[in-house]
Amino acid sequence: MNSLTFRLLEVFQEVVDSGSVTAASTSLSLSQPTVSLQLKKLTSVVGLPLLEQLNGKTRMTEAGQIVYRCAQEMMASQTRMRSQIKSLQGMESGSLRIAAVTTAKYVIPPLLGAFCKQHPNIDVNFHVGNREQILERLKNNRDDLYIFSHPPLEEATQADPFMDNDLVVIAPSDYTGPDNCTLHDLAEQKFLLREAGSGTRKSVDEFCREHHFNFIDPMIIESNEAIRLSVASGLGLSILSEHTLAQTAPNSVKKLHVEGFPLCNQWHVVTRKNRPLSLAAQSFKSSVLQEK
Ligand code: PGA
Repeated sequence: MNSLTFRLLEVFQEVVDSGSVTAASTSLSLSQPTVSLQLKKLTSVVGLPLLEQLNGKTRMTEAGQIVYRCAQEMMASQTRMRSQIKSLQGMESGSLRIAAVTTAKYVIPPLLGAFCKQHPNIDVNFHVGNREQILERLKNNRDDLYIFSHPPLEEATQADPFMDNDLVVIAPSDYTGPDNCTLHDLAEQKFLLREAGSGTRKSVDEFCREHHFNFIDPMIIESNEAIRLSVASGLGLSILSEHTLAQTAPNSVKKLHVEGFPLCNQWHVVTRKNRPLSLAAQSFKSSVLQEK
């Protein structure tokens, strides 16, 4: 006879969050048969199917949604308990979970590196994804701190700005097309853009909407580095955060002077108001905000 355990709920939540048994088995470091078996056990404990197939996609049944909500509450309560206990034990052995949008990986690691040197016993978990993926983690209360340049406008969150994030138009170093111009003057150029769901792309799309500009057949690439290298090798132009250029070989790309650019954004550290922060998280947040 199976009984309900924390582990079964944790596995179910991961299958739903990651979208498949395969992805969940990777993130939980379990084999696929183990994850499938855990799902089967949970289904037999609940006594109703938790997942169903619709148009080739897996989705939760009503019972699945109830179990998922319960799993979320248990995880949040476990995180709260852990962080309160760790706070009692003092900051030096605390834990810190950070989730940052892809482009912030140029900004956060140096700050995190310095922090970890000062507090070597803090257990750090650093997750990177595009804006949409990090918003999902925020919604599911997975981390202590989130780094966005377009923070969600939700009452339940607090967003504190700490650094500029300017988006610039870049071209190959031997580019001879229009410069000192408007984006419309670049309409004939091939653009390499980040994917929908990325914060960088959101900013670019907003600018284009305001200026009634459409890219002709842009190439979509889901990585700042790949875009930067593709621009350097002459594939086209792009609009990227200036941070992504910091490690570029000198003169491999050049910035164009385009009206309305740079697009000025700011990095924010975002927290959920109802999640008590561990001492470690409070301390890292303060060190990030000192960058102002
Ligand atoms: P991105 O986010 O890495 O998802 O593009 C950057 C941003 O929010 O500006």
